[in-house]
Order: sequence, then C-alpha cells, then structure tokens
Amino acid sequence: MKKLVSGIKPTGKLHLGNYLGAIKNWVALQNEYECYYFIADYHALTTEISAKELSQNTFDLVVDLLALGIDPSKVTFFKQSDVIGHTELGWVFNCLTPVSELQRMTQFKDKSGDQSANINAGLLTYPALQASDILLYKGEVVPVGEDQLQHLELTRIVARKFNNRYDDYFPKIEPIVSHAARVMSLNNPEKKMSKSLGDQSYIAIRETEDDVRKKIKKAISDKTGVENLLELYLYFGDKEKHQKMSEDAKLDKLMNSELKEALTKSILDFLKPIQEKIKNYEQNPDKVYKILADGAAKAQQTADKTLLEVKKIVGLKK
Ligand code: TYM
Repeated sequence: MKKLVSGIKPTGKLHLGNYLGAIKNWVALQNEYECYYFIADYHALTTEISAKELSQNTFDLVVDLLALGIDPSKVTFFKQSDVIGHTELGWVFNCLTPVSELQRMTQFKDKSGDQSANINAGLLTYPALQASDILLYKGEVVPVGEDQLQHLELTRIVARKFNNRYDDYFPKIEPIVSHAARVMSLNNPEKKMSKSLGDQSYIAIRETEDDVRKKIKKAISDKTGVENLLELYLYFGDKEKHQKMSEDAKLDKLMNSELKEALTKSILDFLKPIQEKIKNYEQNPDKVYKILADGAAKAQQTADKTLLEVKKIVGLKK
C-alpha cells in the first residue's frame, strides 16, 4: 500500500472548508492507503495562540475528526508534537531550503500581513517543517485543499535537494485535491473560507443550529456569492434540486431565500449526526487521549526508522 500523510492545524474551529477540501478525502482514502493523519500543533505555534486555547483546540479537533469518521483502527492518528522526529528532520530540511523559496510562499506573505506584529521565524520556515511532516513517514500522496499546493511543491524541492546532495532516499510526493479544493467564504465570496476572515466567513462542524441559520441568511448573495452557495449545496443537498436551482440562477429566476433555506436544511442534516458523535466522544475524554497515545506510539516506530537512516545518510551517525 502506498503511504499517505496529511495534517491540520489546531488554530480554531474545524469548518466546512477544511471538511470538503481535505477531511472528506482523509476519510474516503482510509482503506486505500497506509494513512498517517496528525494534528499539526507545532505549526499552530507560529500564530499568537494561548496555551489554554492550543490544548482545547487540539482536543476539540481530535474529537471532530473522530466524529467525522477518522478510524484509528485503520490509520495512524496522532499529534505532531507527541512524535520525536518532526522537528529534527525539519532542522535538516531547514539547512537545505533556500530562504528565497520560503519568502515566495503566498501563505507567508498573507500571514505576515495578517499578523504584522508577529512575523516570527517559524512563520517563514513552516514549509520546511511541513516537508518533514510528510517525508518522516516517506509519504507519497498528500490530500489537501488548494491553498497547500505551494507548500507541497516546496516539499518536492526539499526532497530533490536531499536526494541530489546525499542519496536517492525520499519518494516524490503527489497531492490529492478534492473537487471542493477551494471552498469560498460566506462573507467574502472572492476569498477562501477561513478562520482568519472572522466568524462570519465559515460554518464550523460544531456550529449551533441558530448560528447556521444566521450565517447563511447573512451570506453575501451577489452573482459570485450565489455561485458559491450553489456549490456548497451541491455537496450537502439533493442533486436534482441543485440542477434545477442552477438552471434558475442562470435565467435570473432563482430566489435567494429558496437557495438559502435549502442550503441551511442540507447543512443542518449533515451536521446533526456528527454533533451527536462529538457529544459522545466528549463524555469519554480518556478514550480520546488513549487514541492519541496509541497513534503516537505507532507513528514513532516509522519516524525512528526514517530518522536513523537520515542521520546515517547525512553523517550525523555512523
Ligand atoms: P490548515 O490547518 O490550514 O487546513 C487543513 C486542511 O484544510 C484545507 N482547507 C481548505 N480546503 C478547501 N477550501 C477551504 N476554504 C479550505 N481551508 C482549509 C487545507 O488546504 C488543508 O488541507 N499547513 C497545513 C497543515 C499541515 C500539513 C502538513 C498538511 C502541516 N503539515 C503536512 C499536509 C501535510 C495547514 O495549515 O492546513
């Protein structure tokens, strides 16, 4: 089986953009690959996040992913910081990664704007750590949303540099991008759905019924906005109704209220059983922590092997 690796940052609430862009694929691909899924908590430290928030977000995210169908009996599911090796290999990669490549990263430029008072070194070198996250497990395929493709390109560059300089060791990675690779924001239809655009941008997996209603009601419904809402409906709603509403929209006959009501219902129907599962997991925190501990122990075995081989290849170990 080919190896698949992907991660997600615990920087806020898991939203429908994350789900449609990445997590839905994580769940769908569990049987086809040897999967490594992790919470990228070291990456979260590049943002201004309190200790309390980081640990609460991490717990919530693990619960959300379990409720969405990540199955720890099929995959290796863990927290990045629980495994020794991510930062070690990340350092080796830092020493191979041209600063000019890092400065080119769109996300670095965007984030430097968003948090101009905290442009820390981690924000710049983040993609070298991401390359390590993937290559520590010799990942070959990586399911992500479109915004991560540039980082994956950098992973390929780093692997190539390592292979050219030392030994042909790391595999070439391929992204897996879903149909919904770029889910757009409700309050700004030109931008991707994101926590950084504020609460009104996204619908969280844990969103209350009341808030789902309010957010969709308030969603921008100009031409692009309607296209985005229709696209969202495609993923949660009824295919025939989607077809009909798309045709009506083209003829300028679609009532916004009809689209918004249908979308609200479809999203609520999707969220309800998941939120029930979330409640169940929350009542069993020990079970959740045990899943993470078991996952880390499993991941550590692969990580140890790679790290030892890398240390020998680069001359850190005889
Ligand atoms: P993160 O935590 O920002 O996002 C997690 C996943 O959700 C996808 N995503 C979206 N997809 C479609 N539409 C959207 N509006 C949308 N918003 C987010 C992201 O593309 C991502 O797949 N650097 C990564 C985490 C990471 C990682 C890795 C990923 C760390 N190491 C190794 C893969 C492999 C990040 O910040 O994703």
